[in-house]
Formats: sequence, structure tokens, C-alpha cells
Amino acid sequence: MITNDIAQAVTIIASGKLCAIPTETVYGLAANALDESAVARVFEAKERPADHPLIVHVATTDDANEWITELPQWAIKLTESVWPGPLTIVGPRTALASDSVTGGQDTVAVRVPGHPIAQELLTELKLIGIKGLVAPSANRFGHVSPTSASHVLSDLGEYLSSHGDLILDGGECQVGLESTIVLATGTNPVVLRPGAITSKDIEQITGIAVSSQLANAPRVSGSLDSHYAPIAKVVLIAEESTAVSGANSGFLALAKVPTPNGLVRLGSPSTIDDFAHELYGCLRSGDDLKLEIIYVVPPTGEGLAQAINDRLQRAAF
Ligand code: TXA
Ligand code: MG
Repeated sequence: MITNDIAQAVTIIASGKLCAIPTETVYGLAANALDESAVARVFEAKERPADHPLIVHVATTDDANEWITELPQWAIKLTESVWPGPLTIVGPRTALASDSVTGGQDTVAVRVPGHPIAQELLTELKLIGIKGLVAPSANRFGHVSPTSASHVLSDLGEYLSSHGDLILDGGECQVGLESTIVLATGTNPVVLRPGAITSKDIEQITGIAVSSQLANAPRVSGSLDSHYAPIAKVVLIAEESTAVSGANSGFLALAKVPTPNGLVRLGSPSTIDDFAHELYGCLRSGDDLKLEIIYVVPPTGEGLAQAINDRLQRAAF
């Protein structure tokens, strides 16, 4: 069920089945965005509520224009600068985007992934008339996103194998956190989900101030309070905190932070980038070890540290 043969993935998707695919952020559970029954099976596999919209993945910025009617100048500048890359743009939908993809909203989320295997797959699919793939993160709803083929296997393997679906293995995801989602329907960019493309990046590229999330922002399932969570309880602690107890507990912090007595060290990333890259794998290994608590010292600072903190707060909720 796991392959690295892109041609096999093309055949599976063209036949209406599902294929977990690597991207530079996390693995996605992909289906032909124009095949209603395949899209329905994505919701079934993930046990995801039907009104949660999906991201459409396409090969190029031009292809994105088939799904979004029009974008403000700042958003065009942003996509030209970042795509292919870890950015999702939400804009007004064209008739291609069905209600099942958008959750009934009048906007659609689109992304051009940068992972070379995702790029090749999307390009091949386009040649046979498949204009885009829906691909939510390939985890059970609410669980930690997968950053390797084996993570997908452990969450969805049983379902996928019993339905003749596929996992396309592209190694470990480079970024390790889901894409930045930017709402592009107004005069200013609105970040709906922080990620590797930071607000500062967006302001530098567009020259326009990023506004904070709208009170009536569209539904983003990753913005539910409890999300991205392992089975173990995640507890966030300060670097200088030594009062944590050791029984059946794990620890994750930057390499410079020593391990409190008796705790199982789950990771020692040396940079913020490494922290993002390793985060979900570390949380999953805590569950594999059947730990009850995972203590995490969140990294401080701007940029990617903010995206990591966003995910950690939801994991700890
Ligand atoms: O990095 C990523 O974005 C990964 C990879 C696989 O591309 N995908 C991903 O998909 O994280 P998912 O479904 O787990 O998260 C997509 C988020 C959801 O929270 C969804 O609510 C939001 O995008 N979304 C989709 N369409 C939207 C729309 N029209 N308006 C607002 N949010 C939307
Ligand atoms: Mg997700």
C-alpha cells in the first residue's frame, strides 16, 4: 500500500481512489477535487465533519486561477513570490469548487505545494484532465498531522488498505507544520492559520499590513481550540521550570534546555526550524511510548516560533 511510484499514484487517483501524498508541510490525503464521491471518502477516512472545507492543491499559479475568480494585487504578488511553497490562499470560488470542497462557503482555499513529488504528481494529473486535488492533512480528525508515510500508516492504514487506497512515500516533510492560510478577499491580508510563511514575510512581500483574524472569520478546523493533539496530555512549561515530576512523562525542548530528572527526552531540536520539523514526530513518539504527559518548553520569538506556539497551545488545550 506504500509506494514511491508516482505513476501508480496517478492511476489510483484517476480511478477515484484516495492517495496520501507528501508535501513540504505535512502529508495530505488526496482525492480528485472534481470527483464528488472521492471527496466524500476523504471525509469518511478522516472522520472529519462534512462542513469543514478542504484545500485544493494545484501545480501552478495559473492553475489556481481556475479555482479562484479574482485576487487583489497584494495577493497576486504574494503567490508569485511564495508559490510553489507552504502558503494557502482563500479567495472567491469559481464554479469548479463544489460545496463539498468549500463546506458550502463562497470562498475556496488553494495551494501550490513545493514538494517535488507533489509537483510531479499534480503535473501528471493535469495532463489527463485532473485539475486539482483536495488534500487535508492525512490524520484522523483532531489528531497530530503526519510528517512521514509511517505516520499516515499508523493513523489511516487500516482504512486505506481496506479500500484499496495508496500512500505515496516522499520521505519526511521538510517544514513539518501545516501551510500558512491567508484570507485574500479584502484590502489587507488576514492570517487564518500561522505557518512557515510569517506575517512579517507577508508584510515584506506585499508592503501591506496584516490584519488580525476577523471575529467572523470563515471556518478553519485547525483553529478549533483543541486540535493537533496526541493522546498524551501536553503540558507547556517555562524553561526554568524544574518542578515537573518524572513518572511516565516525556520532554521536548530546544537542545540547550537540559532534561528534568526522570523525564524521557523526545527531541532536542537545535534550531526553531528543526523544532517545527520534529514537533509532530516527537508528539507521536510520546504516544508510541504510551507516555501520560509530554512536557514541552515552547520556543520563544517571532516568525516560525509563533506557528509552533499556535499548534502547541491547541495540542495542550
Ligand atoms: O499544509 C497544509 O495546508 C496541508 C497540506 C496537506 O497541504 N493541508 C492541511 O489541510 O493542513 P487541512 O484540511 O488539515 O487544513 C486546511 C484548513 C482547514 O482548517 C480548513 O478549515 C481551512 O483550511 N480552509 C479550507 N477552506 C477554507 C475556506 N474556504 N475558508 C477558510 N478556511 C478554509
Ligand atoms: Mg488538518
